[in-house]
Amino acid sequence: MTEQRESHADTECSACPVSGRRDFLVDALRAGGLALAALGIAPAANAMPTRWIRALASNRTEKSYAVPAGDGVQIDRDAEVILSRVGKQVYAFALSCPHQNTALRWESDDRIFQCPKHKSRYRADGTFIEGRATRSMDRLAIRLTDTAVVVDVDKLFQEDLNKAEWQRAMVTLP
Ligand code: FES
Repeated sequence: MTEQRESHADTECSACPVSGRRDFLVDALRAGGLALAALGIAPAANAMPTRWIRALASNRTEKSYAVPAGDGVQIDRDAEVILSRVGKQVYAFALSCPHQNTALRWESDDRIFQCPKHKSRYRADGTFIEGRATRSMDRLAIRLTDTAVVVDVDKLFQEDLNKAEWQRAMVTLP
């Protein structure tokens, strides 16, 4: 069986000149790009990527994470923490939607958080855009050390209950 597969692969390769395969790939990529463009789908130039992370260190209430190197969203599913960097600001959020606690999703091309349950939408800094929720995403206390950002998962700020604390819950990178 293995021999048959190898001999089939040999046949395919010998029957297909290298330049022909390269042309085929280029043509396929172009065709794919044209098809996506025709559908109005194109990778967003300013997309903010998502990464899955784990705390570098943690104790009962605090989780330490590497300082995000650039704009983007990082999610620690185990701790239910979202880190979002926008320019020099880094925010930490509870993973759950403030409406009915559904896990939020990051839509990197649109640069928004969206709730899969009732479609509430939030900006990268957690501010409410639209939907059934009645407040922005809940922020967690965050501080900066020499080497990390440290999130206190026991200190959660709700915009509607304590707007001043909610607004202060961020770090500004040097
Ligand atoms: S649970 Fe998120 S909008 Fe309702």
